[in-house]
Amino acid sequence: MSRLSVEGGFRLEGTVRAAGAKNAILPIMAACLMLEGDTVLQNIPYLNDVSIMLRMLNALGVRAEYRKNEEIHVVNTRKIRHIAPYDLVTSMRASFFVAGPILARAGFAKVPLPGGCLIGARPVDIHLKGFEALGATISMEHGFVQIEAKALKGSEFRLDFPSVGATENLMMAACLAEGTSIIHNVAREPEIDDLGQFLQAGGAKISGLGTSTLTIVGVESLTGINPYPVIADRIEVGTLLIAGAITNGDVTVKGAIAAHIKPLLTLLAQAGAEVETGADYIRVKGNGRLKAVDFETEPFPGFPTDMQAQMMALLTVSEGKSVVKECIFENRFMHVRELMRMGAKITLEDQMAVVEGVENLSGAEVKITDLRAGASLILAGLVAQGRTTVYGLKHLTRGYYDLPGKLRSLGAKIIE
Ligand code: EPZ
Repeated sequence: MSRLSVEGGFRLEGTVRAAGAKNAILPIMAACLMLEGDTVLQNIPYLNDVSIMLRMLNALGVRAEYRKNEEIHVVNTRKIRHIAPYDLVTSMRASFFVAGPILARAGFAKVPLPGGCLIGARPVDIHLKGFEALGATISMEHGFVQIEAKALKGSEFRLDFPSVGATENLMMAACLAEGTSIIHNVAREPEIDDLGQFLQAGGAKISGLGTSTLTIVGVESLTGINPYPVIADRIEVGTLLIAGAITNGDVTVKGAIAAHIKPLLTLLAQAGAEVETGADYIRVKGNGRLKAVDFETEPFPGFPTDMQAQMMALLTVSEGKSVVKECIFENRFMHVRELMRMGAKITLEDQMAVVEGVENLSGAEVKITDLRAGASLILAGLVAQGRTTVYGLKHLTRGYYDLPGKLRSLGAKIIE
């Protein structure tokens, strides 16, 4: 199994640049199915999930390729196919984002039910209820969801929960529906805002981005955009900033947007770190041993669930007791068992983890279970005494492009 080793005890300092946001890129790539003509996306790190979505687009009939200087070029002229390949959808949940675009373009989409993953069952009921509200009929056959609508009709409806993926899928479908859609209780993550601006650049008529209600007036067609730079990855930014805080270092991330991770910055300051923000950078300086802080994960603008594991790594060596509540996914504490192998003191009760900070963690052999848990274990390794060997890097490369390399550029001792 692929692994890396971290020698703990080195302060991280210096400046790194944030990569483009995985969770903006994936739905924007899916939206390229709806845009006729050429589209060029910029600021795209070559992540494993990006390469899976590239294969998906080509399998559906558009020509999409990754070019040097972090660009993706898409040529979408012919009719698109309407069956999403089983192996691709089941290897990456975000592939389900193609359902809305295929339905909007071809009137019929056949997409395998995306598997759950270790962090939870992750059903798609909210997506499907929304497609029905737009006039589609849903049927299940041999593990595939069949979504059919001769013509999608705009309507007013409400999401049971502000699901990020459902908001994105339904916003895309509504763009080419007949008439106006008003969708209430939508998610407001910055990645949704980026997707909305991308669609608007292609001619979509969307208002309410950043609020809990989207109003979308359907149009006949959308046209390609050249170029479209995607936003910085706020989760990678947060991960790098915590690397600075946990090693009592001084890290600046360029290209970062402070408004996208405000709850994290507030917590880091509350814990005693020094936080400085500018138009396109965020700087965090450690301040000796930080203090315990409590938090719970919530939909944006609350604390992001994708930063929960990384923040917990910091709390394992902060002074005092912290209470962490995971309110988005039912099983997103797999990193706890591995952190405890490094000497962390954590007790779990349902969706709550109580972290009692220790003076030192000790290096150990640990295994990555999911993407953000992997980042958490590397952060803990930066400050643990001795060597930490982290196994299962395939999870990490799904969502971080060369995180070890970025940390090394800040002074971390990481061998791959
Ligand atoms: C997106 O996943 C992100 N992935 C996740 O990031 C992120 O953790 C999540 O949003 C929450 O912010 C991408 O954008 C590619 P949800 P998504 O639908 O859309 C339940 C990472 O590490 N739900 O907002 O799948 C669901 O089970 C990944 O980068 C339903 O019950 O998340 C979960 O408990 C991990 N029915 C909650 O809602 C549905 O139809 C939030 O899910 C849809 C969701």
